[in-house]
Amino acid sequence: MMVPMAKAQDVARRQALAERWCASCHIVSRAATTGRSDGLPTFPALAARPDINAATLKGAMTATHSRMPDFQLGAREQDDLAAYIMSLRPR
Ligand code: HEC
Repeated sequence: MMVPMAKAQDVARRQALAERWCASCHIVSRAATTGRSDGLPTFPALAARPDINAATLKGAMTATHSRMPDFQLGAREQDDLAAYIMSLRPR
């Protein structure tokens, strides 16, 4: 079957994107238990916020942000990153 295969690849691709584009500032993995002293949100912390969803995440990636760089991410990368962060939401 192709489907489970593609899913595993999706997960790996999404995580690689987060590590490449976001990990220099954010803690991007669920394994990290400590936050940052400068108050910068970790991805698991973002995922746990009730006001955060895929749409608001994509908004944060496209908006010219006060302290965040203006990313030139394609629609697919944005979808992948939003899906990655939402996958960290506690169940
Ligand atoms: C150069 C450092 C830097 C990088 C790289 C970075 N961020 Fe951020 N991000 C910040 C800072 C700083 C904040 C805190 C909000 C602010 O003051 O801009 C933030 C906040 C956020 C927020 C929260 C916005 C809100 O509504 O509270 C989201 C979502 C986010 N970042 C997503 C991402 C994603 C996805 C990536 C990778 C594509 C990324 N960030 C890469 C610095 C960065």
